[in-house]
Amino acid sequence: MRLIIFIFVLLTLQNVCSQTLTVTSPGNILSLKFELKEGGAYYSIYRFGNEIIKPSRLGFILKTSPNFDDGFSIKNSKTNSFDETWTQPWGEVKDIRNNYNEIFIELEKYSSPIRLMNLVFRVYDCGIGYRYEIPEQAALSDFEIMDELSEFNLSGNHSAWWIGAYQWNRYEYLYKNTPLQKLDTVHTPLTMETKDGIFLSIHEAALTDYPSMTLKRTGGNNLKADLVPWSDGVRVKTSTPMKTPWRTIQIADTPGDLITDYLILNLNEPNKLDDVSWIKPGKYVGIWWEMHLGKATWGSGERHGATTENAKKYIDFAAKYDLDGVLIEGWNIGWDGDWGANGDIFNFTKPYPDFDINEVTLYAKEKRVKIIGHHETGGGILNYEKQLPAALDYYTELGINVIKTGYVNHGQNIKRVDEKGETVKEWHHGQYMVRHYRKVVEEAAKRKIMLDVHEPIKPTGIRRTYPNMMTREGARGQEFDAWDPNGGNPPEHTLILPFTRLLGGPMDFTPGIFNLTFNNEKPGNRVNTTLAKQLAHYIIIYSPLHMAADLPENYEANLKPFKFIIDVPTDWQETVVLNASIGNYLTIARKDRNSEDWFLGSATDEHGRTFNVPLNFLTAGKKYLAEIYKDGEDADWQTNPYSIEIVEEEVTGSSILKIRLAPGGGMAVKFKLVD
Ligand code: NOJ
Repeated sequence: MRLIIFIFVLLTLQNVCSQTLTVTSPGNILSLKFELKEGGAYYSIYRFGNEIIKPSRLGFILKTSPNFDDGFSIKNSKTNSFDETWTQPWGEVKDIRNNYNEIFIELEKYSSPIRLMNLVFRVYDCGIGYRYEIPEQAALSDFEIMDELSEFNLSGNHSAWWIGAYQWNRYEYLYKNTPLQKLDTVHTPLTMETKDGIFLSIHEAALTDYPSMTLKRTGGNNLKADLVPWSDGVRVKTSTPMKTPWRTIQIADTPGDLITDYLILNLNEPNKLDDVSWIKPGKYVGIWWEMHLGKATWGSGERHGATTENAKKYIDFAAKYDLDGVLIEGWNIGWDGDWGANGDIFNFTKPYPDFDINEVTLYAKEKRVKIIGHHETGGGILNYEKQLPAALDYYTELGINVIKTGYVNHGQNIKRVDEKGETVKEWHHGQYMVRHYRKVVEEAAKRKIMLDVHEPIKPTGIRRTYPNMMTREGARGQEFDAWDPNGGNPPEHTLILPFTRLLGGPMDFTPGIFNLTFNNEKPGNRVNTTLAKQLAHYIIIYSPLHMAADLPENYEANLKPFKFIIDVPTDWQETVVLNASIGNYLTIARKDRNSEDWFLGSATDEHGRTFNVPLNFLTAGKKYLAEIYKDGEDADWQTNPYSIEIVEEEVTGSSILKIRLAPGGGMAVKFKLVD
């Protein structure tokens, strides 16, 4: 009898000490192992049987114990398979397949009273997403999370591309490429290459009411979630039932496969807006670059940029060249003085006296050009939220349904009035701001307004749920070339963005600068590309709203290359990556969503390169006229950036395109179906 009891106890203990569940991806490429080890929850990931993520901890530390960190047992688990193709209202591709195997695990923590925590893992062939759910339960309603324990313990000291977190300029830094062990705390997406040539990117999806996850190296090759805290040190203020964003790990054989993998979008909720007919991708010019060059000012005075007259000039230009919109910055009271520090005085319904907004919007309407409104908040959230409904209604009444917003401010300088009535300062990327950004998206959607957000929260795919959330900045854009004291973005910058920041979603990079050296305005600065590379950016950097960022006169003086900007769409049926190397080069072909035409962009860092690219993405048996915009033979980003050749060739799907990229150069091609 004693022996039987002993064996029973041993079996029970074993069961409690180690419980393992596994699920593999639909194509049997990835597998996910979940285990309880001495009551602690861990996951690991294998690719073709090789460990990619070593056992990594899961759980939370709460402000009021007991924590969700140990003492777990599996109460229940169920698996599920899902395979569906859905259509984007606009995007880099029309149809997206969402195919995964899922495991839903209900955990129980033996404490008094018992606590419940669920985990959901979705296992795709190209990556994994997991999230926590804290369900409704007797012993927990409102609660505060002091730490999320999610670990990402990597299998080696991979080569990593990263920008540091918790810095004053938010996400606007040049990416560094170092061994993993050189990083401290970084933003996501964090992209890595293993010694075996596998590419990984860690990010998150569906960040809606939670802080941004940064990643902290905890030793060796181990990373851990580091949630951006509130000013009082709490990371998350929440209540049951709640779900965290998805933690995502993309895993691919080539860097190009990271770009054409739609894991982040797939993990977001489907479109919540009934009618999306008013949501339209497009291209725009704007009263913008002249301020960055210092030729005009946002604030009032002799050089004020947003005057009625200047706005009409841009509207005429957009109408003449069939561009969709004109952005007008600096139109409203609040810009005078140090606007970056005085966000509290912006008035979003009061134009400067020299800007007759009624006249301008009427004029734009007659010319069939959209005005893109602008709300720079300077990070003055209290001021902006107070005015938000009126500010959005004001634009709606004027017929404006696209707004660029801005949040220029120090990374941890967002004023909030706390529960005690005291003014405190929050981070740009903490839960307070995530809530704010979401609120603006929802308020805008109610009024059928599209958004282009600068100084945003990083993209995590919510454009699927709210397709009015079109594009955003959230990295160093082209504007740095106008005023960065360290010389702007180096040639490799736009060959890193597509594999890092852009994995989260589209970017308003503001390409298309034709006057690359602007010696008169900013002798110490310039754009570090050739002219042809400026055109290539319209393809390699995806954005549903793309700016033609330069001044109208610089386009009028270069009408031949400008034709590519006029022709290039911003809404795609298909996207194919033809070659890719992070920080070095990238060639992408995209098919127009509304015609049979294809477009190609190819760009390189500071090294010249040649490629022979088969055009087998074109429809077999059809002929196309290729309009090729390429670096001249003597082009060089430093010494001869303007040299460009524009040639035409007839091609078919069996042709090979010879690509020659100058140092810091690029190529752009329109393939027009002729028969
Ligand atoms: C920074 C934005 O990135 C830029 O596009 C804008 O012109 C200024 N803020 C002013 O709002």
